Amino acid sequence: MTDEHLPDRPSGDDRRGFLKNTATVAMAGGLVAGYGSFVAIAGRFLYPAHHDNGQWQFVTTTDRLQMGHSLAFITPSGAKVVVARQGEGDEAENFIALSSVCPHLGCQVHWEAFRNRFFCPCHNGVFDPQGVAIAGPPAAAGQRLKRFALMVQDGLLFIQVPTETVAGPESETQTA
Ligand code: FES
Repeated sequence: MTDEHLPDRPSGDDRRGFLKNTATVAMAGGLVAGYGSFVAIAGRFLYPAHHDNGQWQFVTTTDRLQMGHSLAFITPSGAKVVVARQGEGDEAENFIALSSVCPHLGCQVHWEAFRNRFFCPCHNGVFDPQGVAIAGPPAAAGQRLKRFALMVQDGLLFIQVPTETVAGPESETQTA
């Protein structure tokens, strides 16, 4: 067999050209990927994602939560909330929803309508009707109970909670 029957083999110049082109394409791809990532990160920094305000979730009907009563509620993310009625009307401002976890050491806070306060029995932590600590260790630390927004529609009470799993009212308690 002679060389005439063999396929053409690339010359040294062809191989060098191919390698050079491949390296150029790879480098350009790397630059594009690198700058693309930089632009994406910069974009996220300059234009942060829309803050998740959560979703509205049904709590109870307003007529089932009478004056002096409160109920325990667990948000989809597992946060424990106390929802209390503080006024006679059926508008949302007659109710309040606060975290029932004491910011001092995490005991359960409850609504005491007859004293117009939220109370933590662990170390006598006292909170005003808006959840601001006014006595005990939480007051000394300037703490307050986290508040959740409420809304009433057609006699139905809704709470605004972070989105995740779903839970409902835990139990009703009478504190009057
Ligand atoms: S845990 Fe509530 S006052 Fe200490």
